[in-house]
This record gives sequence, structure tokens and C-alpha cells, in this order.
Amino acid sequence: MNLRYYRSRFHSALQLLQGYKYPEPFHIAAKNFFKKNKKFGSKDRKAISEICYTYLRCGLTFSQIELKEGLLLSGLLLDFEPASDWNNVSKELGYSHEVSDDFFIQEGAFDFISKAVEETIRFYPSEHVLPELEHYNKPGNLKFRPKNWAKDHTDDEATKLGVIGCRELAVNQTLDATTQVQDLSSQFICHQIKAEDHEKIWDICCGAGGKTLNLSSQSRSEFYLSDIRPQIIENAKSRFRSMHYDANYAVVDLSKSQKELRFGAKNIASDYFDIIIADVPCSGSGTWFRTPEHFTRFDYASLSKVADKQKTIVKNAASFLKKGGRFYYITCSIFNEENTEVKDWIIENTDLILVNEIAFDGIKHKADGMYMAEFVRQ
Ligand SMILES: C[S@@+](CC[C@H](N)C(=O)[O-])C[C@H]1O[C@@H](n2cnc3c(N)ncnc32)[C@H](O)[C@@H]1O
Repeated sequence: MNLRYYRSRFHSALQLLQGYKYPEPFHIAAKNFFKKNKKFGSKDRKAISEICYTYLRCGLTFSQIELKEGLLLSGLLLDFEPASDWNNVSKELGYSHEVSDDFFIQEGAFDFISKAVEETIRFYPSEHVLPELEHYNKPGNLKFRPKNWAKDHTDDEATKLGVIGCRELAVNQTLDATTQVQDLSSQFICHQIKAEDHEKIWDICCGAGGKTLNLSSQSRSEFYLSDIRPQIIENAKSRFRSMHYDANYAVVDLSKSQKELRFGAKNIASDYFDIIIADVPCSGSGTWFRTPEHFTRFDYASLSKVADKQKTIVKNAASFLKKGGRFYYITCSIFNEENTEVKDWIIENTDLILVNEIAFDGIKHKADGMYMAEFVRQ
């Protein structure tokens, strides 16, 4: 992007970031900001958003300096002509940072930024990141953009028949409904879950049903979906209906221990399911390159509480698994506390035995980071 009018757009971006209240998603805050400030045309909106997002995507790099200085320095990752525009803003704000005329051709931004903040570029607090994924904190990730798998998939395939997820084209009336899109990481994880046609599968934190929809396209197992939120169950139902897949639904709060489950007319006691999928609520840290406002604002001290919730959900669900059944613990987090530490707790405190463990490298595949631990019940 060629950033003309840098000065005025810098100040608008600063105003937007100064008024931003986490945990509201930043894209919503930006939308509301532009709704209130009608003077910005579409090019302005795009450029101002880009200035903000470039700053947010620097993660913890600027956490020790003022917002306006960080915003200025992150601007060096954008494309400028002439460099003097940047120097003028730097001077106006009272900083001594100055770049040469050919700076943007030389691409010296990484070094310049590291020297200016007197520490290395980083996104997450390293102590939380899984050792296998420590490269998530490499400076080169300033340029990392996960692919928009949903958009690419529908753009490429909207007019094609035979896409993943369409089982019975003959009864599907609209082609739209034959395509359900998912990030590559979730597709990969779902392919690790080998479900047989006769098996009973409980998706205990189903959300809008993403994981089970994927599995429904692979097998004719008996699916049971539950979540704490009644509205999200309705969303899952509607997605399943549009794909002509059958499933059983229930609202179940797994922060509480359950004697039995009620899916419609079916009452289910312990030792019932062949497979349990626990795609538990988590920090979502594996997805933060899409929502970079979390890097600096997330309350890292809350991770132990999040992990306690994850353990409770697992404990309250596990007894509904048959002996010999498979339990899949899944997060879209790259943090130790929510992954390997919960896995260790499960091994020590339940009758589940670990058989497989995957840390999905989202950076390598231009997708989200995910974690899965597969257990078998003794
Ligand atoms: C990571 S999301 C699930 C995403 C979903 N599996 C998918 O693939 O689209 C976690 C889900 O856990 C649910 N949840 C949170 N607390 C819960 C609880 N105590 N009991 C059951 N579900 C809970 C949330 O409502 C949310 O939908």
C-alpha cells in the first residue's frame, strides 16, 4: 500500500486506537469509528485500518513504549513515498527517529525497530508458548498473514460440484449449502479423528458445529452436539439442516457435573459414547495473527483460570465415554497452560491414557495454530 497523506491518517489511527476498549473486537471498534466520522472515504478507511493493524500485529514489541511512538515505528513496515513524510511526523511528535531517503527501498525496518525499542521484536510472552511453536515469536512473523481459507475456498469452488462436505448433492437445492468452510488447521485436526459409521460421537463444546460438520462429511456416525449456549445450538442445527445431515442436540453446561444427558427423548448415562470431541473454550492464541488486538491486551494472568475451566469440562464429560473409547482434547491455543499442562492433568486425574499429541503449526501452513491430544479410556 502506498501511504499518501500519512500525517493526517496517522493522527486518525492514533485517535481510533486511543478510544479502543478491549475486549471489543477491533474490527467492530473501527467500523463504529468510521460510522461516526463520515468524512473518511473508502481509501482513508483502508489506510487508517492498515496503520492500526500494522501496529497491533507487532504484538508485544512496543509494549514498553507510548502508543504514539509504537504507532510511528510500526509505520516503517508500511510503504512510503517520500520517507520525509515519516520523518516529519516523527519530528512533530518530538521524537528523534529519522530514516534516510532510500529507507523504504532498503527494507531496514526490522533492524531499525529493534534498535529503537532496545529489545527484540516479539508477539507473545515467550514463557507461555509451546516449545514446539517457539518460532511464533520470530521477527519475520511481522509479515505473517494467515490465509483467509473461508474466502479462498468459496471463491475458488462456489461454482464447482463435488466439494468437501457435500454428501447428497441430489437433495441439496442450493449450491451454497453444499459448501461449509473451515480453517486448514481445523480440517487437519478433524482428519485425525477416525470415525466409523456405527460409532456414537459427542461434540461437547460444539459451537456452531464446525468439527462435527466436517466429520459428518466423512462418516455416517451418530452425532450428538451440545454447548452451554442455546443460541449457538440453533446455529449448528441450521447448518446441519442445510447440509441434510442428522444429529442430536442438547444444551449442556459442563462446568457442572452431569448424572445423565438428555438429547431430545434420549436419556444417556455414563459409558455411552465411542468418541468425545472436546474443542474447549480457550484464549484462542493460535488465531491472534487474525485478531492481533489480543497480543498486548489479553490478561495472561487469567490463563490458570481458563485452564481450570478446561479441566472441569473434561472431567465432567469423560465418564460418558465407553471403556476403550477415544477422547480428543482440542484448543486453538499455542500456550502451555491450556495444552500440555491440561494434558498432564488429564493423565494424572482421569482414566484417560494419552495416545497421540499434535501441535499444528499455523505459521508454516498460513493458517491458525491448534493443539490436539488424543486419549483412550481405560
Ligand atoms: C472453541 S469453541 C467451539 C467451536 C466449535 N467446536 C467449532 O468447531 O465450531 C468453544 C465452545 O465451548 C462452549 N462452552 C463454553 N463453556 C462451556 C461449558 N461450561 N459447557 C459447555 N460448553 C461450553 C462455548 O459456548 C463455545 O461454543
